[in-house]
Amino acid sequence: MSTAQRTDVAVVGVGRMGRHHVRIYDELEQANLVAVVDQDEERAETVADEFGCKAYPSIEALLEHHPDIRAVSVAVPTNHHVAAAQPLLARRVACLIEKPLAPTVKDAKILADTAKAHHAVLQVGHTERFNPAIRAVATLNVTPRFIDVDRVSPMTFRSLDVGVVMDMMIHDLDIILMLVDSPIRKIDAAGVSVLGPHEDIASARIVFDTGCVANLTASRMSMKVERKMRLFSEQVYVSLDYQKRGGMMVRKTDNNMDALTAVREQISQGKDLSDLDYSSMIQIEELMMDLPPGEDDPLTAELTSFIKAAQTGQSPAVDADAGYAAVAAAERVIAAIRDHKWRGLDDPRLVIGHSD
Ligand SMILES: NC(=O)c1ccc[n+]([C@@H]2O[C@H](COP(=O)([O-])OP(=O)(O)OC[C@H]3O[C@@H](n4cnc5c(N)ncnc54)[C@H](O)[C@@H]3O)[C@@H](O)[C@H]2O)c1
Repeated sequence: MSTAQRTDVAVVGVGRMGRHHVRIYDELEQANLVAVVDQDEERAETVADEFGCKAYPSIEALLEHHPDIRAVSVAVPTNHHVAAAQPLLARRVACLIEKPLAPTVKDAKILADTAKAHHAVLQVGHTERFNPAIRAVATLNVTPRFIDVDRVSPMTFRSLDVGVVMDMMIHDLDIILMLVDSPIRKIDAAGVSVLGPHEDIASARIVFDTGCVANLTASRMSMKVERKMRLFSEQVYVSLDYQKRGGMMVRKTDNNMDALTAVREQISQGKDLSDLDYSSMIQIEELMMDLPPGEDDPLTAELTSFIKAAQTGQSPAVDADAGYAAVAAAERVIAAIRDHKWRGLDDPRLVIGHSD
């Protein structure tokens, strides 16, 4: 791509996540990293020195020096998303706002409305949408009936401004809403706070209008990292590992249906099948996505798609409505956790031993 087609981009908030945005923009040939912004001026200077761009302590300073900036990543803590992104969207600057879009539905609506009113591109940083395993599932056009997700990790002492539902479960809520594509009928949930005012461990059961049931577990108090999904649908069974960016599937092929018919017949005839290896009878396929170089890294693919949306003005891959829907679902899970009644337990913190 020629230099003329490169889009000037800045990153606001260069902590743990924002620094990854900076690193990737610096490598993308479609992007021209011009500046970083952080209220921690020393941090901004350090990152700017490393990547050869300007450092500013505020968005006002960024806009003063770069009035024509067209694309910005917003990676400040979630509670600051509105303050950071609203003035940019109001200037029609395309914004990639890290997930969750906002800490509340009210704030998410402010951002979505501002983007619509000013015809600004607003993409939400639901990075898992770009995970090759999820992209492979999305191409299968599944009609999910039952979904089971576990997302657990050790405490990092980050993102404590929100609970584990807005911090971690939101990834899976976004993916499930995309795959199920149906209104939520009912949510039951339980959660416990261990370290602060917000829940650190949560378990939710979501029933959709289609009858699909999704069970989600999220913990930031675990001893291990695990991010797995199992999905049962009309067409296929899928088991995927977000971390490994891959998985397996068993499709409703003629071969597999024949194997099932044969087993059913033998069971109906009262045969002893205890020595039968069922997994050797069915065809297990690898969940694969043929992606061009670089596209297999979810964050690189996300930032590439954002720059394209900023250049063309087209609707981004994960738009404001999707970001809003995920926050709305997360808020309902949190409300269900508050409504949940424990019996015989004075302090929910006592159950911390059950976190992994
Ligand atoms: N997509 C993902 O997988 C993923 C992973 C981790 C975090 N995140 C999201 O990224 C965001 C940032 O998280 P983090 O872990 O990088 O936080 P962090 O605390 O490491 O970094 C935030 C940075 O923003 C700066 N900052 C705070 N308020 C500011 C303001 N008003 N203006 C300018 N700078 C400001 C801070 O000084 C800090 O350097 C959160 O929304 C979080 O949910 C997304």
